Amino acid sequence: MRTTELHNLLKGKRGIVFGVIDSHSLAWQVACKCVQEGADLLLTNTEQAMAIGQTQQLGNELGVPIIPCDATQMADIEHLLNESMNVFGGKIDFILHSVAMSQNMRRHRPYTNVNYAYYNTTLDISAVSLHKLLQACMKLDALNEYASVVTLSFIAAQKFMDTYGDMSDAKALLESIVRNMGGVYGQKKHVRVNAISQSPTITRAEQGFKEVQYFHRFAEQMSPLGLASAEDCAKLCVMMFSDYSRGITMQTLYNDGGFSQTVMSGKFIEFFRDTMEGLNTNNKDEI
Ligand SMILES: NC(=O)c1ccc[n+]([C@@H]2O[C@H](COP(=O)([O-])OP(=O)(O)OC[C@H]3O[C@@H](n4cnc5c(N)ncnc54)[C@H](O)[C@@H]3O)[C@@H](O)[C@H]2O)c1
Repeated sequence: MRTTELHNLLKGKRGIVFGVIDSHSLAWQVACKCVQEGADLLLTNTEQAMAIGQTQQLGNELGVPIIPCDATQMADIEHLLNESMNVFGGKIDFILHSVAMSQNMRRHRPYTNVNYAYYNTTLDISAVSLHKLLQACMKLDALNEYASVVTLSFIAAQKFMDTYGDMSDAKALLESIVRNMGGVYGQKKHVRVNAISQSPTITRAEQGFKEVQYFHRFAEQMSPLGLASAEDCAKLCVMMFSDYSRGITMQTLYNDGGFSQTVMSGKFIEFFRDTMEGLNTNNKDEI
């Protein structure tokens, strides 16, 4: 499915996309948009994710190669980078790091009762993996000048959110790595490193959780523009990989419809008033 190129924003650029597991993955939309914009692409995920997910299916549809990699394993990362440069016939221009996992959250362990082995794994997979990736890129000199590396973050890096558990700490660390690695790599080779803090978008793993659905409803009402979709995220990633963002590095960019800057929206007040008036009416009836 080499779809029609839209603006050729990524023509001549070679990139790696981590994190496609199924069509709900943010990385799925990003990969499609990058190919539409003319990029030479390569997908990667763990062997386990590829065995249960649809990474291979998307690779076939887009006509792009796939190289497995566990983003916590330095040997895997170095193999991925070396193989990618072989396949592309040169260095890499952009990377999407769309990688996260928390066993504590999967097992509904609250923030004050984490399993510390899981906690370390959460940090390793969801944040330190970016550090390892960038360290390997430097060591192998795998990135071109002004290459762009983007990772995906969430508002719980800055603000308390009861249900986000140990992933909040992982996102805070991730954004710190973005700043520190961005600073060093920028001076060294003009490589850009940024995070996109994305609106909530429901993934396959989250579909069954009522709490997640309530939060999405809340965030939708509280965001002046509404939620930014996975497609919106993909478009911003394309812009960040393109030459139109050459001056941007070490940032967390909020692709969240304004949620992070909102204390109360008119939309939410209306929603809340209807709910409260419904409650009052019901209470009166009961009396
Ligand atoms: N969905 C949302 O609401 C939302 C909002 C903001 C940020 N994000 C972030 O976006 C990113 C992608 O999440 P998603 O919602 O698309 O979910 P997803 O489950 O589709 O993506 C997570 C990916 O991480 C991969 N992964 C896990 N362990 C790995 C490892 N050791 N090595 C390599 N890959 C590994 C998984 O296989 C999966 O493909 C995550 O960082 C997530 O925190 C998601």
